[in-house]
Amino acid sequence: MKNTALITGASSGIGRELARIHATRGRDTILVARREERLQALADELRGEHGVESEILACDLADAAARRGLIEEIERRGIAIDYLINNAGFGGHGPFSERPWESDLAMIQVNVLAVAELTRAFLPAMLERGAGRILHVASTAGFLPGPLQATYYASKAYVVSFGQAVAEEIRGSGVTITTLCPGFTETEFVARADLADLRMLEGRSGPGPRPVAEHGYRAMERGKTLTIHGLGNRILIEGATRVLPRGVLLPLSHQSMKKKSAG
Ligand SMILES: NC(=O)c1ccc[n+]([C@@H]2O[C@H](COP(=O)([O-])OP(=O)(O)OC[C@H]3O[C@@H](n4cnc5c(N)ncnc54)[C@H](OP(=O)(O)O)[C@@H]3O)[C@@H](O)[C@H]2O)c1
Repeated sequence: MKNTALITGASSGIGRELARIHATRGRDTILVARREERLQALADELRGEHGVESEILACDLADAAARRGLIEEIERRGIAIDYLINNAGFGGHGPFSERPWESDLAMIQVNVLAVAELTRAFLPAMLERGAGRILHVASTAGFLPGPLQATYYASKAYVVSFGQAVAEEIRGSGVTITTLCPGFTETEFVARADLADLRMLEGRSGPGPRPVAEHGYRAMERGKTLTIHGLGNRILIEGATRVLPRGVLLPLSHQSMKKKSAG
């Protein structure tokens, strides 16, 4: 394989588009997610349309043993990872004290631990080669606390901080780390996280996954450290979250996270 990207969460949304963009450059992919048949369909599409190599490795990233198995399988096959795209992630709604702990634990495993573990696994070899690109898909949620989505927002704050810190550690090495922060994007994410009824999404439509993926992929190719997708999101994050005191921001964030059906 050549110019190989390991892409997590490639079975739908932003991750699937990142895989397609990577393949249009004539580059190979290893596609990771749980839904194997979707990965297989995408791998067939990438091979057929772009003549690239595409392997699938079905893996539940919430499972520590499965994550180790994924890393060992790539080492066993002797595949060099030139691009690591940590995109898999999911959210969930409700007061922290009432949410199923298993669900929040899995969220931390996928959104936080998998990002750190895969980076730790593949970054050293990139540094030895003096070349490589890492892209983390975080979120605008990483810039403020999210009452009613406490674990999700905190998980993305980890990625925003972690991505920038390690990017700084390796500056000048030939390897770069880019952290992409999308705002609301039309994928399966909202329905799967039970967010469709949120006040903050009332009357709003977001971009599809393709422009978000293109924005992130370009930023990764340029080696940019942090990028927020969309002018409105940039204004919100660089304006509101920096200017408003926490005492004002937190109740506003809480209100926006409530469901319309909750009155
Ligand atoms: N959509 C938004 O509004 C939005 C906004 C900001 C940031 N983001 C972030 O963007 C990233 C991609 O999300 P998306 O919007 O494209 O959502 P999506 O369409 O729901 O895709 C999520 C991907 O993550 C994978 N995934 C989830 N849990 C997994 C697990 N346990 N093991 C392995 N893979 C798992 C899913 O695959 P399987 O289910 O097949 O395993 C799927 O491929 C996420 O990190 C999300 O937090 C999304």
